[in-house]
Amino acid sequence: MADRDDLATLLDEQASFYQAVAAEYDDHALPFPGGGELSDALDAFRPAGSVLELACGPGTWTNQLLRHATDVTAVDASAEMLGIASARVGGQRVRFVLADLFGWRPERRYDVVFFGFWLSHVPPERFASFWSLVADCLQPDGRVFFVDDAYRTGDELIEGEHSPVIQRRLTDGTAYRILKVPHRPEDLEHQLDQIGWRIEVHPTAGPFYWGSGRRPQPAQVA
Ligand SMILES: C[S@@+](CC[C@H](N)C(=O)[O-])C[C@H]1O[C@@H](n2cnc3c(N)ncnc32)[C@H](O)[C@@H]1O
Repeated sequence: MADRDDLATLLDEQASFYQAVAAEYDDHALPFPGGGELSDALDAFRPAGSVLELACGPGTWTNQLLRHATDVTAVDASAEMLGIASARVGGQRVRFVLADLFGWRPERRYDVVFFGFWLSHVPPERFASFWSLVADCLQPDGRVFFVDDAYRTGDELIEGEHSPVIQRRLTDGTAYRILKVPHRPEDLEHQLDQIGWRIEVHPTAGPFYWGSGRRPQPAQVA
């Protein structure tokens, strides 16, 4: 990406896309098997305790998190998405927060941080700082779980297959540039290992994958 202003403009355009697509979000679900495996993996992980959900969207995963968690704090930059999520996921154990994750800081630490279909929208330039945010959100023994996909159609690749920038359209044809980094599970594991995370990333059927793990604490110095 050319420079910081270009990246900021692109991130704004990406956020605008999700504001605009919120009402039709479910119509854009990927037509592949594999979603059930993601859900089973999340149940097996058991996201217990206080859970932070980043980029919660319309609450796709929030009810499932609440089956295990004592409480969920769900953050998203789109008021439209949060409106749908709060209509779907009521109750006193969930708190919704409207915030831009590229500027937001947590007020406290959580037992689990979860993000669904968000990591692929984090630009490569912000990968390390995003994971630093995740570390700052977690208790020392906290755990992380994410699900995502690497699916991009040929007509979305407006800058070619090596660029993380693609184009997505609303049902009415309006086009937006967003980021979609096609992480490969083994490379993602390696990239995370290099910045201090121990995370296993598992491919599923279709273009999906899920990851879980933690960031070992540096050994205490006597
Ligand atoms: C692909 S959707 C994922 C939604 C949900 N987690 C799911 O699995 O269906 C990406 C979400 O990221 C949110 N988002 C985009 N830019 C953001 C930002 N800068 N800060 C916080 N959320 C953002 C969008 O509003 C949208 O809800």
